[in-house]
Amino acid sequence: MSTLEFQQSILNWHNLKGRKDLPWQQDITPYRVWLSEIMLQQTQVTTVIPYFNTFVQQFPTVEALAKAPIDAVLHRWSGLGYYARARNLHKTAQRIVELGYFPDTLEALVALPGIGVSTAGAILSIAFNKSHPILDGNVKRVLARFKAVSGWPGQSNIIKQLWEFSAQLTPIDDVATYTQAMMDLGATVCTRSKPLCDQCPLQENCIAQLTGTVALLPTPRPPKTIPIRQVVLLLMSNDEGAILLEKRPPTGIWGGLWSLPEFDSIEAIEAWCLLKNRPIKLLQALAPLRHTFSHYHLDYTTVRVKTDNPINFVMEANQTVWYKREHIERVGLPAPIKLLLQQNIEDKHG
Ligand code: ADE
Ligand code: SF4
Repeated sequence: MSTLEFQQSILNWHNLKGRKDLPWQQDITPYRVWLSEIMLQQTQVTTVIPYFNTFVQQFPTVEALAKAPIDAVLHRWSGLGYYARARNLHKTAQRIVELGYFPDTLEALVALPGIGVSTAGAILSIAFNKSHPILDGNVKRVLARFKAVSGWPGQSNIIKQLWEFSAQLTPIDDVATYTQAMMDLGATVCTRSKPLCDQCPLQENCIAQLTGTVALLPTPRPPKTIPIRQVVLLLMSNDEGAILLEKRPPTGIWGGLWSLPEFDSIEAIEAWCLLKNRPIKLLQALAPLRHTFSHYHLDYTTVRVKTDNPINFVMEANQTVWYKREHIERVGLPAPIKLLLQQNIEDKHG
């Protein structure tokens, strides 16, 4: 598919199926286009429509907006969220009034508060019919699929590739319609989940569609990497099948809960048993397991140690307890520890 064929398919689709009745598509002015683009940055079209209408009713021109108290602007914005957008809108309106005209170059637009390169491209193409590419969320998704660009589009090299495709495909003529059409295609056909490929003008040339990788693109953000903490847990049981628990310090994860004594290594467990005068009758390490907290993985190896009755065991006041099966509901236990105990505690009482 040539660039020209791509553009014609997009324009033709928009002519037949694109949205043409949105309020900011009527009575097109730079002010209205700019306002709608800012509102649409983090908010859905259906939510934006009533806000856009009341906003332009109260502030019909950039001059009216510049003169308005910021509180009146924020009041009109309330419910749309991301209020920095409203503050930047107000500041930018004042700059534009000082300037005396609405800027119509990329450089001048991106110098204004709240206007990034893609928003500037949308304003230039839709309001001024000047050929500039955009790369909003919709266009990113369409192009990542159409060109089968894999890699998370939050990564600079992937963004760069997508910008290059967007620039290469953006026409010189009819750019206002083209830009609107690409946004519309992304919003209504090439949707994040369950895209309607059978209704898409690009289906026969879309690499993701042809290779069955639509559902994999755009590549999702990689899961954030969190640190791994490794511990060895001592599961010490005595002749009665009771298990030794230790109270966790009051602060930190599992603070104040009863848990298994925690060590850095199996050697540390052996040293500890010697110190506490606990003969090791049997020692067996279980397969390591992982418990994931919001900010780290806890990889724990459980070491089962059988010992004698705890006659000489040194008990620190209220910090250790021999725990039997019948106690299982009585003390506060972290969920993974409770599970470990349920799997390993011996029932000597039937
Ligand atoms: N999302 C961002 N800008 C848009 C526009 N002009 N029309 C529809 N959806 C959009
Ligand atoms: Fe998106 Fe499907 Fe169209 Fe490809 S064919 S651009 S995946 S809607």
